[in-house]
Amino acid sequence: MSKVLILVGSPRIHGNTELLAEAFAEGVRKQLDCNGNPLHEVEILNVARMNIAHCSGCNTCFSHEGIACARHDDMDKVYAALARAEILVIASPVYFYGISSQMAATIDRLHTPLRNTFHIHKACLLLCGAATLPDLFNAITTQYEMVLRYFNIKDCGRVLVPGVKDKGDIQKTDALEKAHKLGASI
Ligand SMILES: Cc1cc2nc3c(=O)[nH]c(=O)nc-3n(C[C@H](O)[C@H](O)[C@H](O)COP(=O)(O)O)c2cc1C
Repeated sequence: MSKVLILVGSPRIHGNTELLAEAFAEGVRKQLDCNGNPLHEVEILNVARMNIAHCSGCNTCFSHEGIACARHDDMDKVYAALARAEILVIASPVYFYGISSQMAATIDRLHTPLRNTFHIHKACLLLCGAATLPDLFNAITTQYEMVLRYFNIKDCGRVLVPGVKDKGDIQKTDALEKAHKLGASI
């Protein structure tokens, strides 16, 4: 059974990003083997509601003192979940054309050799933004592609949802269905 970890970067409870992540997770849970057992195990962590400090850039993790981060906070739970995962899903609202600062802080904390012990080989991207500009997601998808290339991780698909501002707006679109289908296809 492979393990899927979904990191959600929106602080808004039951907001658009959370609904999108849950639809994706439901799709993953639908995948069964020939004996009717789940093919994947899904874990969702909302990093925006966890206590995750910024990387201080101390580089202790790159020193002789070991490979782990010197800071100890809820990122320890994220490291443990990443160590179990084979497929990583990043789900974030668009904040000033980038990912949320909560998600960025989490990703920055992966600047540690500890990441070389992870076995993640596939990733998906789920994004929500209020605007309907054609290039709304470009900065984020560029970062996503560069990071995946650096770590030799395969992109397994994206659901990018423009035009969703208020809580529940995503329910008026076909994005939840798309996320469910993507989850069912990984
Ligand atoms: C701090 C902040 C910055 C935002 N910046 C953008 C932006 O640059 N472009 C955009 O289209 N929407 C922007 N939005 C709107 C959110 O992306 C949008 O409301 C999204 O649906 C929120 O997802 P959530 O319900 O999961 O929190 C911003 C919202 C906040 C709170």
